[in-house]
Amino acid sequence: MISFTSDQRFIVTGASSGIGEGVALLLNELGADVIGIGRNIERLLSMREKAKYPEHMYIEQKDLSDDIESLPLYIKSLKEKYGKFQGMAYCAGKAMRQPVKIWDVNEAKEYFDINYFAPISMLKGFCDKRICNHGSSCVLISSASALLADKGHTIYAGSKAALSASVRSIAKEYAPYSIRANCILPTVIKTPMTSSRGDYLEEQSAKYPLGIGEVSDVANLVAFLLSEKARWITAQNYVVDCGSF
Ligand SMILES: NC(=O)c1ccc[n+]([C@@H]2O[C@H](COP(=O)([O-])OP(=O)(O)OC[C@H]3O[C@@H](n4cnc5c(N)ncnc54)[C@H](OP(=O)(O)O)[C@@H]3O)[C@@H](O)[C@H]2O)c1
Repeated sequence: MISFTSDQRFIVTGASSGIGEGVALLLNELGADVIGIGRNIERLLSMREKAKYPEHMYIEQKDLSDDIESLPLYIKSLKEKYGKFQGMAYCAGKAMRQPVKIWDVNEAKEYFDINYFAPISMLKGFCDKRICNHGSSCVLISSASALLADKGHTIYAGSKAALSASVRSIAKEYAPYSIRANCILPTVIKTPMTSSRGDYLEEQSAKYPLGIGEVSDVANLVAFLLSEKARWITAQNYVVDCGSF
């Protein structure tokens, strides 16, 4: 049984929607203090209303693509406001499906900003003994596209593959400081990101022997990897695909 105490504080990005919201609510339910970050304040407030322990759910409105270089300072300011952290779940991100023939470098950079540079900059700020506790853990949501990209996922898959590769290097750099880092690579999970694409989920469902994934299928693994039970697990990329590939 995984449980946390309220002095175990976690940053969760993307907490206003989908996987990040599910992770923030689960960590809160398991007893942790959660700082949920997102851009949309209404959705953050509504997430907090669903929390089992709203007094242990804090929200922060922030565009993580805005001034990525200053994100380590942002993490420092959160530490000064809330105290040291036990972990971080980076769940913010955005997806695109576009043929490479209309590739646009500036648009591609926007995807790399939120899916790759922002999480690396957040890790840079987090992995500091003045900011995080001994035995801390970070989980980053990559994507199965990093390994088996679908048609049209050139940019999205590239940004996630970069994240999955970098997490292994970062994990090795910080293992001597007892900080762990792992990625989770889901296939299709039912969230606003996938539900908003017309009949996409229905079209995909035949590929999934156990059905389309739910947010809890990812959130439970995040909670495990953030917990002390995963103390010997780092530098890994976990595919969550119910055997579909
Ligand atoms: N759903 C899937 O099938 C699936 C599969 C594989 C991987 N993933 C990955 O899982 C992660 C979460 O996806 P999801 O399905 O939960 O998507 P979602 O419901 O669309 O949620 C995306 C979250 O990212 C936040 N976000 C986006 N851009 C941001 C920015 N510039 N600054 C701060 N926050 C930002 C959004 O905040 P606001 O709401 O405040 O804008 C929202 O909370 C993404 O990285 C996605 O690539 C999802």
